[in-house]
Amino acid sequence: MLTNKKIILAVTGSIAAYKTPELVRQLVKQGAEVQVLMTPAAADFVSPLALSTVSKKPVFNSVSNNDQWHNHVHLGRWADVLLIAPCSANTLAKMANGLCDNMVQAVYLSATCPVLIAPAMDEDMWLHPATEANVKKVAAYGNQIIAPEHGELASGIIGAGRMADPEHIVQFIADFFKKKDTPPAPSKFKKALITAGPTYEKLDPVRFIGNYSSGKMGIALAKTLAEQGVAVTLVLGPTKEEVLLPNITLLRVESAQEMFDQCNAVFEDIDLVIMSAAVADFRPATQAKEKIKKTDGAEHITIELVKNPDILATLGKKKTHQVLVGFALETNNELAHAQAKLDKKNADFIVLNSLNDKGAGFGTDTNKVTIISHNNQPYEVPLQSKTAIALAIINYISNA
Ligand code: PMT
Repeated sequence: MLTNKKIILAVTGSIAAYKTPELVRQLVKQGAEVQVLMTPAAADFVSPLALSTVSKKPVFNSVSNNDQWHNHVHLGRWADVLLIAPCSANTLAKMANGLCDNMVQAVYLSATCPVLIAPAMDEDMWLHPATEANVKKVAAYGNQIIAPEHGELASGIIGAGRMADPEHIVQFIADFFKKKDTPPAPSKFKKALITAGPTYEKLDPVRFIGNYSSGKMGIALAKTLAEQGVAVTLVLGPTKEEVLLPNITLLRVESAQEMFDQCNAVFEDIDLVIMSAAVADFRPATQAKEKIKKTDGAEHITIELVKNPDILATLGKKKTHQVLVGFALETNNELAHAQAKLDKKNADFIVLNSLNDKGAGFGTDTNKVTIISHNNQPYEVPLQSKTAIALAIINYISNA
């Protein structure tokens, strides 16, 4: 996958640095040549010896070593990609402001190759407005962010800010080179609206009715279209997934009603709509202002539900020039149910997932779908990454 690719891995001072020998091992296994750089703080978290052993090269942690100068300009020109992983809050701030007080900063500032950044820090640091501004700044310089993941952090807190898994970083780099070597053709669509993720329908201040959607499928569609030059509005339900692409307008919502309002507000101006969100069909008729208490002696309670607006069906009635794509997640009689949704919601395509297919549907990194349309036979797309599925869906609807 990465045969003969020259990769500089710059390791900075974060506990996630302990994962970097494994990251180097995986990159080397894929055929890459890896040159490791470290900031002085990184050596507190991982040994240079471990990194030089797995990369089979000396590690550079200073611009000079006794009377020897490590040519940072040459390194920045040598590499096909500069990967900064983990990238601490401190390094991110320096990159945003052009500081140059160590080897990593010197190579970053002189690099002529693309730069990929995998931030890693505790949740409160990641969510700080200064970090948020720095991420936006470095992304605006043209660097790509490998979004951190949700999970256990050094503080013991479970939250956002954990460095992406080495396996996910390697996949990101492989996808990056694939796109670089075969750049995507410009899309025939100009403006797209994508919905993704679940909706939460509040019962009281602490409880809701929701579902297992992660938003991964819709985010993959949004990213793929954005890479093809489409202006994307992504209406995203409550999910822990990060979306860090400057050319996607991200509108975060919680309930079906909020998703409905946002979609309706932008619909007229859009030429492609893909609704991958798992929208709750019903919501509680009332929302309690205070937490609903357990009444002594009561063995059951009844919650009255009322119907939510059907966003896809509403847009189906309104559509003029828009291409409208819905999703369907089914458990039985899949094709028949998907076909019925195509007609009932006046969609042009329905992308069907079945919960009976292993590795498909909610939460997974992979999916398997069948695309239903009015004039063609069902088109099956085999199990593969949600990124590859997104591309297959977009290619199919663009050429149908
Ligand atoms: O988010 P992931 O974890 O990656 O998982 C992806 C997914 C499984 C959620 C996705 O691939 C998928 O199948 N999404 C649709 C799930 C669904 O609940 O479909 P449905 O059959 O209930 O709805 C049919 C279509 O109508 C969908 O396009 C839905 O967005 C839309 N709808 C449904 C109800 C409603 N009130 N308004 C709507 O617009």
